[in-house]
Amino acid sequence: MGCLYCFLGLLLLAARLPLDAAKRFHDVLSSERPSGHMREHNRLNGWSSDENDWNEKLYPMWKRGDPRWRNSWKGGHVQAVLTSDSPALVGSNITFVVNLVFPRCQKEDANGNIVYEKNCRNGTGPSPDLYVYNWTAWAEDSDWGNDTAQSFHVFPDGRPFPHHHRWRKWSFVYVFHTLGQYFQKLGQCSASVSINTTNVTLGPQFMEVTVFRRDRRTYVPIAKVKDVYVVTDQILIFVNMSQKNDRNSSDETFLRDIPIMFNVLIHDPSHFLSASTINYKWNFGDNTGLFVSNNHTLNHTYVLNGTFNLNLTVQAAVPGPCPSPSPRPPRPTPSFSPVDDSPLELWEIPDEDCKIHRYGHFKATITIVEGILEVNIVEMTEVLMPVPQPDDPLMDFVVTCQGTSPTEVCTVVSDPTCQVAQDTVCNPVEVDVGDACLLTVRRAFNGSGTYCVNLTLGDSASLALTSTLVSVPGRHLGSPLRMANGGALASVGCLAILVTVIALLVYKKHKEYKPIENSTEVKGKGLDGFLEHAKVKFFPRCQEKDPLLKNPPRVL
Ligand SMILES: *[C@@H]1O[C@H](CO)[C@@H](O)[C@H](O)[C@H]1NC(C)=O
Ligand SMILES: *[C@@H]1O[C@H](CO)[C@@H](O)[C@H](O)[C@H]1NC(C)=O
Ligand SMILES: *[C@@H]1O[C@H](CO)[C@@H](O)[C@H](O)[C@H]1NC(C)=O
Ligand SMILES: *[C@@H]1O[C@H](CO)[C@@H](O)[C@H](O)[C@H]1NC(C)=O
Ligand SMILES: *[C@@H]1O[C@H](CO)[C@@H](O)[C@H](O)[C@H]1NC(C)=O
Ligand SMILES: *[C@@H]1O[C@H](CO)[C@@H](O)[C@H](O)[C@H]1NC(C)=O
Ligand SMILES: *[C@@H]1O[C@H](CO)[C@@H](O)[C@H](O)[C@H]1NC(C)=O
Ligand SMILES: *[C@@H]1O[C@H](CO)[C@@H](O)[C@H](O)[C@H]1NC(C)=O
Ligand SMILES: *[C@@H]1O[C@H](CO)[C@@H](O)[C@H](O)[C@H]1NC(C)=O
Ligand SMILES: *[C@@H]1O[C@H](CO)[C@@H](O)[C@H](O)[C@H]1NC(C)=O
Ligand SMILES: *[C@@H]1O[C@H](CO)[C@@H](O)[C@H](O)[C@H]1NC(C)=O
Ligand SMILES: *[C@@H]1O[C@H](CO)[C@@H](O)[C@H](O)[C@H]1NC(C)=O
Repeated sequence: MGCLYCFLGLLLLAARLPLDAAKRFHDVLSSERPSGHMREHNRLNGWSSDENDWNEKLYPMWKRGDPRWRNSWKGGHVQAVLTSDSPALVGSNITFVVNLVFPRCQKEDANGNIVYEKNCRNGTGPSPDLYVYNWTAWAEDSDWGNDTAQSFHVFPDGRPFPHHHRWRKWSFVYVFHTLGQYFQKLGQCSASVSINTTNVTLGPQFMEVTVFRRDRRTYVPIAKVKDVYVVTDQILIFVNMSQKNDRNSSDETFLRDIPIMFNVLIHDPSHFLSASTINYKWNFGDNTGLFVSNNHTLNHTYVLNGTFNLNLTVQAAVPGPCPSPSPRPPRPTPSFSPVDDSPLELWEIPDEDCKIHRYGHFKATITIVEGILEVNIVEMTEVLMPVPQPDDPLMDFVVTCQGTSPTEVCTVVSDPTCQVAQDTVCNPVEVDVGDACLLTVRRAFNGSGTYCVNLTLGDSASLALTSTLVSVPGRHLGSPLRMANGGALASVGCLAILVTVIALLVYKKHKEYKPIENSTEVKGKGLDGFLEHAKVKFFPRCQEKDPLLKNPPRVL
């Protein structure tokens, strides 16, 4: 009786053994097992089912934490980094790239061998060896045409390596695994694979990659990596909004009365949509109606300030599954029929060339504020000092602007090509320049010559630029030029008085009214009015209203 049990037990063992021996791809590569349905449904071109047998003798695989991992690579661990251009629109290609990162001071050379980097110290001093792995040496004794050699020039499923003149330089075997299927590839320290996502279920999926290195007549696992990717039926879009004079392009705050440039960028790395007609339907949320265009760029000007909800729908007709149960590979025809907005509308074109509409949506909340619309330099004059000084020449720039009052003025002085900046100066504009925006900016130059001056007026939302070339004369102290410029001298004289008056008034105004916002506006206006009046009356030649003149002009 006991013997019978023994016998049955042995039989069972014998029956089990071959099962244990024959490992399959999914046993080796993945902990999760996709259902047969998933495998059938997501058929990838050129990929094989992970029900296939895995040659464990040639390609051993260890569990996580197995001590053998420690010796899988000389001098440390190899890390595999997996990236992809996910997310992918269904039907487009998604590309995965694996890069191997070797331990410090190791790199791959032109022949695909792994060498120690010259002059690289890895803690123990420079390496006495040249090679980490000299694959060439192993390749020599295993040339093609040798039966014994052929037996180990195979992938884990037994398929022979492709015959290629570069095969000696390829010493890594990459096994990609997703959706219950695998793809094997020979390569150097980097490998990539593209999948046509036509047959891939929408949503997130996993891609796992296992990398082996050659080890004479077997292979050793060196790294495993896993990443998630997404297949979607939505066109992925990004809208770049930019505007002249807009200070911060990323805060979704723009200026009234200046066109905003909208540029739609479609994430389509495999150029799947390049043969499609793409339509852009814009609703800017300001009751201007619907704009339909086939251009990815569009300009729109908001004429009111406030907050607006922008809505963009992108529509493309792409090759898609035919509604009939007999699909034929569709030919890429740029034919396009107008249809309404219902998503995923299918229709058949004679010849069973099927197209499907795909949509992309973009929404944004845009804030429109007032800003500085324009700045112009209307006059440039040399400043002549009443007392001869060995200082750098000074120039006054009379600047007008439109829109809101600036709060700061900056100048960048550069060479005549406007490229090499020499001097940047910014000053706050503390006085409300009012509706008739006018101010004088005084700047010093490093001697005579021609300069490019970039002048910007800014406030919290806007930054308006103007650029000019200025010819700065040298100092001719006591020269006839100075005589001829007697008028300028007089102007400087009244300027000096004006400086004092304005400084006093401005100081008072700020001292008295600054804390009370509302009254500042009213009384400030009164003051400004007085200032304007006084100026016109007593200094008809002096247009300066520059707050900078409160202090003696800075010599830079
Ligand atoms: C999709 O699957 C079908 C059959 O299942 C197959 O014939 C076709 O080649 C696959 N297409 C792609 C792009 O993988
Ligand atoms: C440093 O290089 C030597 C050279 O052979 C190597 O033996 C050692 O393992 C390396 N150490 C590290 C930390 O990479
Ligand atoms: C993927 O395959 C489908 C049909 O099998 C084809 O229409 C489509 O253009 C392919 N995509 C790419 C990016 O090659
Ligand atoms: C690498 O292998 C090749 C081929 O066997 C050999 O010629 C070369 O000398 C080897 N290099 C080193 C540094 O061992
Ligand atoms: C095949 O390779 C083995 C191992 O290097 C060698 O011993 C044998 O002689 C080779 N056979 C032929 C036919 O080249
Ligand atoms: C898409 O990927 C397939 C391999 O799956 C490749 O044959 C085809 O050339 C790729 N198409 C594009 C446009 O990249
Ligand atoms: C957006 O457009 C502006 C102007 O055309 C450009 O300078 C900027 O680099 C673009 N930004 C992105 C993220 O493409
Ligand atoms: C889109 O509009 C811009 C500016 O008007 C133009 O330069 C460009 O050629 C247009 N592109 C297309 C595809 O019509
Ligand atoms: C939008 O405005 C910019 C700058 O004014 C101009 O270069 C561009 O051609 C305009 N684009 C369109 C589509 O009108
Ligand atoms: C819009 O601009 C007007 C002046 O034109 C201003 O009085 C008002 O406060 C602004 N509204 C918003 C929401 O910025
Ligand atoms: C924005 O576009 C979507 C899709 O076309 C639409 O359902 C929605 O009603 C639109 N919203 C507005 C405010 O226009
Ligand atoms: C000055 O402004 C111009 C545009 O008007 C620009 O091309 C140039 O780079 C600017 N120069 C400097 C030094 O900022």
